[in-house]
Amino acid sequence: MVLPEMADGGHAEVAFFRDDETGLECIVAIYDADRQPAVGGTRMYDYASEAEALEDALRLSKAMAYKTAAAGFDEGGGKGVILGDPVTDKDEALLRAYGRVVDGMRGAFHTGVDMNITTEDVSVMGTETSYVGGTEGGRLAERTARGVVAGMRACLREQYGTASFADVTVVVQGLGKVGAPLAEQLVDRGCEVAVADLDERRVDELTARHDVAVIDPDAVYDEPCDVFAPCATGAVVNDRTVPRLQCDIVAGSANNVLAEDRHAAALEERGILYAPDFVVNAGGLIAGLGGTLGLSDAEIDARIDDIETRLEEIFERRDREDVSTAVAANRYAEDRM
Ligand code: NAI
Repeated sequence: MVLPEMADGGHAEVAFFRDDETGLECIVAIYDADRQPAVGGTRMYDYASEAEALEDALRLSKAMAYKTAAAGFDEGGGKGVILGDPVTDKDEALLRAYGRVVDGMRGAFHTGVDMNITTEDVSVMGTETSYVGGTEGGRLAERTARGVVAGMRACLREQYGTASFADVTVVVQGLGKVGAPLAEQLVDRGCEVAVADLDERRVDELTARHDVAVIDPDAVYDEPCDVFAPCATGAVVNDRTVPRLQCDIVAGSANNVLAEDRHAAALEERGILYAPDFVVNAGGLIAGLGGTLGLSDAEIDARIDDIETRLEEIFERRDREDVSTAVAANRYAEDRM
């Protein structure tokens, strides 16, 4: 049943689309009716079931609503998910059909890249609709990485009393559009970086250019490090992984890092500081929306770097209200909605 799930999550609109000619099956979820348009990327994933895809769309669009509010924008949250294998099912006809779906929403939903959807894919969608953005050569993902670095600074200061990156060890899970530039930015700052990706080509591309350690994707949770940076899928902090983590900080770009909100408290019980995902991964959003508002590159970078201060405020609120960082971040965003 979809409607109870929508009501539970507070969603305004969830639309399912199917196109027999191209095989497109997708879901677009819009969180809040009051804050328009809804903005959020589109991902493609070979979901085990339609229910799993729906859950992803609902969770991700809600996270986008919190992200736009926490970053100080008036826009609401939305998300598109395309059901299918990005390697075998993604082609021009399917992407154009999806572009027509977005166009049919007449501006209620503005979208761009997300997992397994590249800037080139968004350009193809853009032949059918003007309600897409972020096609400027991966710059948005680099800026998402910049925001994660800013968030890490606040976390390092909170845990170690200094925001210095020198000799800090970081494990980066996933070397996609965000994880790869994040690993590079961390190497440039003097971190010792270890990386893992299911796709060996991504690992080879990075190790050809940088001195990073490579670890098995299954071993990331057991690797001793200062910071674990999840930059692949969501729900990687869960009942199975919390006891295994050997880090002091979890801060990465992945959306919905926690399987459930209670896992933030579980991390904190183990002395691990959790940087709420929708706060630290807002760099691309700030760059995208900042661009449409006419902000200069320098102004956008300054707003992204403010993620550091925003996190510090959230840590203060956590202490004041005696809640987890996840709850403090939710309250911070809800105050601004
Ligand atoms: P991407 O699709 O470019 O890269 C994801 C990478 O993770 C791929 O290389 C994939 O092989 C790898 N991967 C998947 N499962 C893995 C596993 N279990 N272990 C190791 N590697 C694994 O995606 P992108 O754009 O880099 O996004 C990464 C995460 O950050 C996603 O959760 C996305 O929702 C989130 N995000 C991305 C933003 C952006 O600007 N692209 C903005 C905000 C959040």
